Amino acid sequence: MNDVLPADTANWRRMLDAVQVVMDSYGYQEIKLPIIEATELFKRAVGEVTDVVEKEMFTFTDNEKTSMSLRPEGTAGCVRAGIDHGLLHNQQQRLWYYGPMFRHERPQAGRYRQFHQVGVEAYGTIGPTTDIEVIALCARLWKQLGLLDLKLELNSLGSAESRMRYRDVLMDFLRRNESALDEDSRRRMNTNPLRVLDSKHPQTREVLRAAPQMADSLERKCREHFAAVQAGLDALKIPYVLNPRLVRGLDYYTRTVFEWTTDQLGAQGTVCAGGRYDGLVAQLGGGDVPAVGFALGVERLILLLDKQGVRAPLAVPHVYFCWLGRQHRGLAMRCAEELRDAGLRVMLNAVAQDDLKKQFKRADKSGARIALVIGDDEAAAGIVQVKFLREDRPQAAVARSELSEVLAGLIPRIHS
Ligand code: HAM
Repeated sequence: MNDVLPADTANWRRMLDAVQVVMDSYGYQEIKLPIIEATELFKRAVGEVTDVVEKEMFTFTDNEKTSMSLRPEGTAGCVRAGIDHGLLHNQQQRLWYYGPMFRHERPQAGRYRQFHQVGVEAYGTIGPTTDIEVIALCARLWKQLGLLDLKLELNSLGSAESRMRYRDVLMDFLRRNESALDEDSRRRMNTNPLRVLDSKHPQTREVLRAAPQMADSLERKCREHFAAVQAGLDALKIPYVLNPRLVRGLDYYTRTVFEWTTDQLGAQGTVCAGGRYDGLVAQLGGGDVPAVGFALGVERLILLLDKQGVRAPLAVPHVYFCWLGRQHRGLAMRCAEELRDAGLRVMLNAVAQDDLKKQFKRADKSGARIALVIGDDEAAAGIVQVKFLREDRPQAAVARSELSEVLAGLIPRIHS
């Protein structure tokens, strides 16, 4: 599990602010989903013979002897919620979510056991428009964040029927080459042959170079759909590369699948991935509702923002409030509250015993531009000393009643 420290949380907030802006601009609405669901849901949705379900779920039995799992992804729960609340029946939904996901993988840079996704799921449209729209939404988010050099990889897995057909053709090929495959692929071959295409094993990859192509098994409608998605991306000037080996690690996909990748993050280069999953809603007991979506890995995108030097500034306090003498604590705190009422970010010294030198040290560390001081003399005279920490400017005594006005003049963009 990964801790996110204060130095990084500003980047997270910036990312989520950008997400909110982009979601609003496409009319997607946020849905909040539970972190724990019945294990059965993930088995049915993600697929029994996937790494995620076979090896990576955090699963436990609850008090009612039901097997529950921490969610490894958000799509299954989103469909479950959509069916439970009747959101998918005869209507379109454009939804997004944000939150932690859990996979028991070997941790490394960019791969964690608790990570965060922003996911998008659109329900109820069968044509290529929504495939194009969700990809355009990603592209807009990269632009909004200032991210460069993300590569869009695209493939079509076809309908369930063309996948079955391809499965047979591929099985034939794999059987003929079985002895040259690695052990994992030999096992996979009989349960989920498409996943063999995903193998990272060098020798298996060599064998797969001669494997039949999925594109040749697509039926006419799927080919037309895929061509229309590509034409739509061309029209929007969103570059992509076709990757016939792109199969995805989850079983629910049909037709369009895509991944946004970068070579700046080493092995964990996929920052966002998704596709169409027209059969899943029916498979989980809902109606015949087509769907398309994606999820992006927040940690990976933050790493990439860092690599590309895009860092959000931390929100430093506008003023640091120093006070001397326990008897003035009430006055200092009241005064600080008034300044906050006026929109200032105020950090108040927290230790009554600190001498002024120590307080100025803390003020300097806080990043504030201005320190305010109240001691015996100031309290008696109804004033506050204003000291500039980062400019060569004389200290000034300001009446308490005029303090927020004077500070507002000194800090022109209070809400920045
Ligand atoms: P996924 O490809 O399994 O798809 O995950 C999406 C993204 O989550 C990955 O591209 C990656 O950025 C991030 N991610 C996955 N595992 C980890 C990890 N262990 N540590 C850090 N980041 C990780 C899905 O989850 C689908 N539900 C996406 C989707 C939504 N398809 C349709 N709708």
